Amino acid sequence: MKAQKIKIALLFGGRSAEHEVSLISAASIYNNLDKKKYEITSIYINKEGNWRIVDSPLLAPPDLKEGLFSSFIPWAKKSTSKAIEADIYFPVLHGPYGEDGTIQGLFEIADVPYVGATVLASAVGMDKAVAKTLHKARNLPVVKHIIVLEKDWIEQRESILAKIRKEFHLPFFVKPANMGSSVGITKNKDFAQTESALQTAFQYDRKILVEQGIQGRELECSVLGNDNPKASLPGEIIPCREFYDYSDKYIEGKTSFGIPADLASGITKEIQRLSIEAYKAIDCSGMARVDFFLEEKTGKIFVSEINTIPGFTEISMYPKLWEVSGTPYPRLLSKLIELGFERHKKKKRKVIP
Ligand SMILES: Nc1ncnc2c1ncn2[C@@H]1O[C@H](COP(=O)(O)OP(=O)(O)O)[C@@H](O)[C@H]1O
Ligand SMILES: [Mg+2]
Repeated sequence: MKAQKIKIALLFGGRSAEHEVSLISAASIYNNLDKKKYEITSIYINKEGNWRIVDSPLLAPPDLKEGLFSSFIPWAKKSTSKAIEADIYFPVLHGPYGEDGTIQGLFEIADVPYVGATVLASAVGMDKAVAKTLHKARNLPVVKHIIVLEKDWIEQRESILAKIRKEFHLPFFVKPANMGSSVGITKNKDFAQTESALQTAFQYDRKILVEQGIQGRELECSVLGNDNPKASLPGEIIPCREFYDYSDKYIEGKTSFGIPADLASGITKEIQRLSIEAYKAIDCSGMARVDFFLEEKTGKIFVSEINTIPGFTEISMYPKLWEVSGTPYPRLLSKLIELGFERHKKKKRKVIP
């Protein structure tokens, strides 16, 4: 008898600034999913948050964007809701409204299995301030930083400016707490820039971080697993500009990569250990990419951030690092799907009071 195929709903696009990146990630996942094992329903989410079933993520953007959309709220205006038959949901949505626990909450409410981190880990991973606080509580090495709320910036501007000048040296970074793709981030080489840097970041969030700039190498490590996560070999990002900004990531793309990074074995091991610790500190499951700085002068390693839906294009670090660590892309996808089912099954076994 022929085995039944597993039905997967692939969700991509989404409301964030990383909409276009999601289309590329989803196309690459679609191409690498084993069609003998999986039957795929492709769901495109537009920038307004409306959903539409499409042939595949390989469609050209105009074809994705034209046509009747529906809302997941069945009684919403102009809704033409259609039943989806899926065994598991795979969100390939980077940034807010996809990587931040919101769509994961919808899956939990509907009691369906899904790929990647839970509501909690997704939300915490998206918020750079909360993630740092949790990492610090576990004694993980985080970059020196302060968290500033917009309300305090309005009320205590002078004292915040004085604190930044006193506690940081140049260059320092200012970034919104909940963003991605380097949006709203500035590298500041002069304290005269501080006010405008904070104002830029506050355009995107009510909470921002001021961080000490680290001069050194940028390393990344892929983690995979639920209760027993494993780390890949680390990789290296070599930005071609001042820092790894939006243009470098997606427009100019002149960044080069070290896959795997050329590191002494002791540093590789330490990065892998810290990656798993950082993963566990936010109670992550499924997958995440953990990013680091290796300071040139001191050799110190800092945990920078954790991304629960990392880039998944053919040239993205997350799948590439698994490839060089012995797990090819199609097998990685199968593992991620198994992990989604496993978590759902385990949760089901718990008593519902
Ligand atoms: N403290 C820092 N020191 C040095 N470079 C930094 C620092 N913070 C950010 N950067 C640079 O800015 C880029 C984007 O910052 P990051 O915190 O990773 O935000 P995003 O979520 O947008 O990727 C990093 O990849 C790095 O090149
Ligand atoms: Mg980053």
